[in-house]
Amino acid sequence: MELGTADTVERVLISESELQAKVAELANQISRDYEGKIPLLVGILKGAFVFLSDLIRYVNIPVHVDFMQVSSYGSGTESSGIVKILKDLDISVEGRHVIVVEDIVDTGVTMQHLLELLSARKPASLAVCTLLDKKERRLVDVNLNYVGFEIPNAFVVGYGLDYAEYYRNLPFIGIPYKKVYE
Ligand code: IMP
Repeated sequence: MELGTADTVERVLISESELQAKVAELANQISRDYEGKIPLLVGILKGAFVFLSDLIRYVNIPVHVDFMQVSSYGSGTESSGIVKILKDLDISVEGRHVIVVEDIVDTGVTMQHLLELLSARKPASLAVCTLLDKKERRLVDVNLNYVGFEIPNAFVVGYGLDYAEYYRNLPFIGIPYKKVYE
């Protein structure tokens, strides 16, 4: 068994077809809600890049895309509570309808920091679209406007989400064998 491959995944939590159907549904909602506007979708690197790239292809209104990179986890599986900006936006958010696109909201610490930072830059509106919501782990209250799936408290990988940079390329979301990361 080689780290980062599908055979080190113990259980598939969300299949490729379930993911695609849900991403299309979220994109349809966004297209309806932002009709007549040009939302700026802010993907949070690196985890959200797969979700964002599928999402925008199902959106049928004009959108702009930019990226931010923040760090909170390092290479382990526990949040440090410290959020550092590693890459900032290129496009100004002032007066824009901003949608933060995230792979997963876990404790909520990362998202809370991001929302504080972005709202200080005076966007016209600020919303959050997350593929996964690990609600039972939440430490701070954050408002999530679009949620793909609520998932149980398990460490998940695939579809952009990593363990020590591995697994981002899997087309599904799965739970790796514990011995992989313990
Ligand atoms: P939070 O600040 O605790 O909400 O953590 C959010 C970030 O932690 C996400 O953007 C992910 O990068 C990472 N993360 C949280 N849970 C998982 C997981 O189960 N697998 C992979 N990364 C995760």
